[in-house]
Amino acid sequence: LSVRAGLIEPDGGKLVDLHVAEPERGLKKREAALLPRVKLSRIDLQWVHVLSEGWASPLTGFMRESEFLQTLHFNSLRLGDGSFVNMSAPIVLAIDDSQKERIAESKRVTLVDLDDNPVAILNNIEIYKHPKEERIARTWGTTAPGLPYVEETITKAGNWLIGGDLEVIEPIKYHDGLDHFRLSPVELRQEFEKRNADAVFAFQLRNPVHNGHALLMTDTRRRLLEMGYKNPILLLHPLGGYTKADDVPLSWRMKQHEKVLEDGVLDPETTVVSIFPSPMHYAGPTEVQWHAKARINAGANFYIVGRDPAGMGHPNEKRDLYDADHGKKVLSMAPGLERLNILPFRVAAYDKTQFKMAFFDPSRAQDFLFISGTKMRALAKNKENPPDGFMCPGGWKVLVKYYDSLTPS
Ligand code: ADX
Repeated sequence: LSVRAGLIEPDGGKLVDLHVAEPERGLKKREAALLPRVKLSRIDLQWVHVLSEGWASPLTGFMRESEFLQTLHFNSLRLGDGSFVNMSAPIVLAIDDSQKERIAESKRVTLVDLDDNPVAILNNIEIYKHPKEERIARTWGTTAPGLPYVEETITKAGNWLIGGDLEVIEPIKYHDGLDHFRLSPVELRQEFEKRNADAVFAFQLRNPVHNGHALLMTDTRRRLLEMGYKNPILLLHPLGGYTKADDVPLSWRMKQHEKVLEDGVLDPETTVVSIFPSPMHYAGPTEVQWHAKARINAGANFYIVGRDPAGMGHPNEKRDLYDADHGKKVLSMAPGLERLNILPFRVAAYDKTQFKMAFFDPSRAQDFLFISGTKMRALAKNKENPPDGFMCPGGWKVLVKYYDSLTPS
């Protein structure tokens, strides 16, 4: 794959593409029909998607034990030439005892979706123990019960992990009307080239865009112009895989983001809106490294990080799970992310004296209002309005409509 000289190089130097070439698809399907099968959950399929398009480059499939251990213990992977790339999220596939028995001595398995359609072949497989407690403790820094991703995918999962090299038979599609927003790293790079970007700055999010988020993005653009860049392009990159139950679903967030561009909060001319196919871990400082690393592969050389990235409330105590400043501190020091320019931001809050979102100034703390996700949900549910200047009216209307759709009539 050709990568333009102007954009940051992908990790490992070359973007991985794990799709079977079109003329060979028929043959691969016939091969797949003869192999032992492993059923993929909805979230497993999202990881196949992530791997297939090279977001995790240079990874070529679900992790084998050596990759899994490096990820857990070093948050990085050593390449053949001795160099390192960052890798903080274990991308693994769990199987149970009976599946392991069925695979027996086979070196290859077919991965099938929930409807038993073959999705991919996993080659040169390695089956190894799934050390659940260690995986959870090292990824989240706690084994407190109630971590959403853990409950959803690990607790009930099998006691084995299966790694290997993926051959994905057809590009993964969701047929939810949003596939055209799911640009692969190659397609994003082409888009940035087409727009003649001389800098690409990424914004990861899983929430509706309020004017505090927008402040981070517009301030970054201003700083990049000041640094001498002529055409910095923003990658507004909402996460599209698994999110916890009380997060706003992707389809509603996409409608909300559309309004943010329509209402002129962000400039469509210099913004690319696309969906990042990864599932969400809510693993704070560990996960934010994955979020940043994947964006290098998509061509971003600047990465915005603010308050408590990939964070959430502690599952059973009344406090945040992570220190709200650790995400940006860790990201700025993370081994293997040296090539990425991290742009750390202070927390933004509603300034009651200016009637707008602004960077929090602790010397006049009483002037600021923190509008948490919980508060926002409560307002929208009760069809109340947030203070003027918190979010563009079009975007707020979408949220009210979403919460309205949840209330039984
Ligand atoms: S995340 O899970 O994707 O990180 P979210 O969508 O809430 O969560 O945040 C997207 C980005 O905006 C993250 O970099 C986060 O740190 C930043 N952010 C969110 N809210 C604020 C805020 N009030 N002030 C500063 N940064 C914020």
